[in-house]
Amino acid sequence: MTSHDRQSARDSSQAWQELTSDFEHARAREDSLDRLVEWPAQRDLLGDVTERSILDLGCGNGAKLAELARDGAVASAGVDIAGKFIPAPPAGVELIQGDLSHPERVPQPIGRTFDRVLFLQSFGYAEDPVHTLRAARAMLKRDGFILLTRTQPIRYAVERTERNGTSLGEEYFSSADYTYRTGWNEHIALSKRPFTMSDLLNTFSAAGLWIETAAEPRLTEEAARRYPHKQEWMNKYLGILIFKLRPLASH
Ligand SMILES: C[S@@+](CC[C@H](N)C(=O)[O-])C[C@H]1O[C@@H](n2cnc3c(N)ncnc32)[C@H](O)[C@@H]1O
Repeated sequence: MTSHDRQSARDSSQAWQELTSDFEHARAREDSLDRLVEWPAQRDLLGDVTERSILDLGCGNGAKLAELARDGAVASAGVDIAGKFIPAPPAGVELIQGDLSHPERVPQPIGRTFDRVLFLQSFGYAEDPVHTLRAARAMLKRDGFILLTRTQPIRYAVERTERNGTSLGEEYFSSADYTYRTGWNEHIALSKRPFTMSDLLNTFSAAGLWIETAAEPRLTEEAARRYPHKQEWMNKYLGILIFKLRPLASH
């Protein structure tokens, strides 16, 4: 990890202090892709959570974790840098302000292990992705798994081709940091370290994880008919990738 990586992770953390409420507001809309595509797919891969303990790293306001607790999850914790959490989380859910770059240092979960560790659209903010994943892996109980989602790298490449008038290949393979304004708040810029599919897969291997399942969720036909502007967006930018990751026995 370079000092530049550390700086850009710090900048993102600062931006998120201000962005969180806008993001949660957008997420709550009935036509949000989180509601229509991402959360149903994440929920599906998580399966039955009865009696399962869950650590949600970059948990936003903690609403997803609260829903999992209502579905039977126990002894769970959510960590987010912004610390803007739902009031009165349900029993069995602790929401902690902290940095997912160092899950091992977050005060409450120290020494605790979990059946599931989640990185839902938050892994890109880790200062050192391999370190973070290794630390998360060490916090898994026997038979536990990590559920990790990331935006398709093609999406950012397409956005950059539109902005810079370049080609897809040039942008997909470019290693320059990418700063963009989100649709949630035009005034706040987020910086992303670009990555390719092989970068991501090699990160999983370096952290001693194997991919049990990968998914690229799409809108249902009914949702596509109902929200054609969302289908149009998906046709262009593809959406997210989801990975169910398990520790390799050999590590
Ligand atoms: C796109 S949101 C996703 C929120 C939630 N996981 C979801 O799926 O709805 C990204 C979240 O990551 C959090 N985040 C960004 N950098 C972080 C860091 N260094 N440590 C912990 N959380 C961070 C942000 O505050 C934000 O809540």
